[in-house]
Amino acid sequence: MKVLVLTSGGDAPGMNKVLSQLYRAFGGKLYACRGGYRGLINNDIVTIREFHPNKFAKEAGSSIKCSRCYAFKEKEGFEKGLENAKRFDAVIVLGGNGSLKGAKELAKHGIKTIFIPATIDNDVEISQYSLGFHTAVKAGAQLYKNTMPTMEAFDRCAVFEVMGRNCGKIAEGVAKICNPTFLVTKNEDIDYDKFSQSIINEKESGKSSSIIIKENLIKIDEFISNLKEKCENVEFRGIVVGYTQRGSKPSNVDIKFAKSFARKTIKALSNKTTNCQAIIVKDGKVKIEIV
Ligand code: F6P
Repeated sequence: MKVLVLTSGGDAPGMNKVLSQLYRAFGGKLYACRGGYRGLINNDIVTIREFHPNKFAKEAGSSIKCSRCYAFKEKEGFEKGLENAKRFDAVIVLGGNGSLKGAKELAKHGIKTIFIPATIDNDVEISQYSLGFHTAVKAGAQLYKNTMPTMEAFDRCAVFEVMGRNCGKIAEGVAKICNPTFLVTKNEDIDYDKFSQSIINEKESGKSSSIIIKENLIKIDEFISNLKEKCENVEFRGIVVGYTQRGSKPSNVDIKFAKSFARKTIKALSNKTTNCQAIIVKDGKVKIEIV
């Protein structure tokens, strides 16, 4: 069986572990598109061995490279990709919601396609878990814990911006571990009067406040300057957690999910269906679902 794999959208910690597990199962019959759907369109496809999947198994990122490929959504790009996909018995796609759409479209055109949810945002509609989320939360919490002691030494207020695009799950996960003074995951949560009153009170009793805010709501500098207007005597520091959440070494939880997702993928490949099969987590279990 000649199998093609690609990693699409943002990389997610654990992707490399999936790749090495698949390599273990298929060896020289496993091929990879360099840079997700872009590689599929451009026929930039080589055996995965050339990307040294075992060497990177425990690392974050994706050894076969990722891309956000808008051309694959267009008719011309899709058709080119489809032609290249036809040379394989199956295509495995790792990514988020956008990547899932592409996978479904390939399946509609007769390609045996398996989708694996992999994005730190944990916002893949069909699955309760997507690879990389645990690592992203852990990295955010680690940064928070390593920052607060120095904030407290100065009675400063720290504002942490975490990733998640349009989804507040990473912010909520970090907040659950770190218990900040405030958590902001949507615009309605922003209440400068409430925040400033609490920040001032805390400072007067010799304590530091902290706010965890999801990215893409307001620029962190603007948020801090709005707060400053109401708390003149408080010093603020903004910390963008950013790419450390995507680039951190996969946690044990994500390594376990990666292995389990790979196992189910191998099982899904032996199923007869040509519908798109997704590996999903439902009620704590890893399952195969037709999507
Ligand atoms: O989807 C994963 C993610 O890390 C989001 O949390 C973030 O908003 C986005 O990707 C950043 O994407 P890029 O690296 O393409 O700027």
